[in-house]
Amino acid sequence: MIPKAELHVHLEGTMPPSLVRQIAARNQLQVSEAIMGPNDTFLWQDFLHFLKVYDEASMVLRNRQDYRDMTYDYLARSAKQGGIYTEMMISPDHAALCGVSYEDHLAGAIEGIEDAKKEFGIEGRLIITGVRHFGSDKVLEVALKARAHPHPYVVGFGLGGDEAGFPGKLFAKAYDVAHEAGLACTVHAGEFDGPQSVWDALNYLPVDRIGHGVRSIEDPALVEELAKRGTTLEICPGSNIALGLYPNFAAHPFLKLRAAGCNVTLSSDDPPYFGTTLGQEYTTAQEHFGLSDDALREVTRTSLRNSFADEKTKERLLKSVGKEFNLEKQ
Ligand code: ADE
Ligand code: ZN
Repeated sequence: MIPKAELHVHLEGTMPPSLVRQIAARNQLQVSEAIMGPNDTFLWQDFLHFLKVYDEASMVLRNRQDYRDMTYDYLARSAKQGGIYTEMMISPDHAALCGVSYEDHLAGAIEGIEDAKKEFGIEGRLIITGVRHFGSDKVLEVALKARAHPHPYVVGFGLGGDEAGFPGKLFAKAYDVAHEAGLACTVHAGEFDGPQSVWDALNYLPVDRIGHGVRSIEDPALVEELAKRGTTLEICPGSNIALGLYPNFAAHPFLKLRAAGCNVTLSSDDPPYFGTTLGQEYTTAQEHFGLSDDALREVTRTSLRNSFADEKTKERLLKSVGKEFNLEKQ
């Protein structure tokens, strides 16, 4: 198996319906079966409805153990597909809505990372993520919490949610707080909003990476700027197709962005919502974008080099990319 690394996955969005049902049952909660689809996927109609279904499923998370199990479960699945490194966005706002403290949700996720590392060798890191449609004050609170609770596994700060309704520049203050606290930054842009949202991210936010960024392709000057700066694009092809950004993989700009010299990487975003996995994204790149095994290994290297992990971890993982991945030998 080719070793894989992932930079863009929402922790709450990794839980398939089977795990949501299991956690709901032990917390004596009911989850609507209307959001559950076939083959352990979820049902939703469009982006804003997807965000609602995602919020509803996340409501089952009620304590530290739930966060530990969700994190461990995802990393275990990722490792079985060849995952050696995963950066997970975690939302303190979703935890707070369920009465879980910042400390508890973080401690649970860290425990899940440690347990998965012990068992499978996979490295996990966390990106504290605000929700843009909760407003700039809430996102600032999240940044302040991140600053107040440093941990070696908490490496970044990010922003998800309704991109078109809440432009990134509204959140400049929160980003400055997080960045000054030593967190590396990324932001969803150029997914549901056009190239201007990516320009705004570059001009107003201290970001090294862009979540998605695929719509940059609509502005050649922007593509050139991204390549020049070496800003990494966290590309999630399966998510983009599922959410209707492009009609099919042939219309997806992954190859054009790569040919223009942009740092392109592969991630799964919210796997059970978009019927994908990290392994599936690599298979898609091979089958639809024609990437060879060597090119896929180079994608993994690009992800690792531009990950927010410490240099020692990056170096160690980069050494293993040329080798065959075998879970038994990890
Ligand atoms: N939150 C969870 N998944 C998201 C996505 N793909 N875009 C923006 N916000 C999200
Ligand atoms: Zn995302």
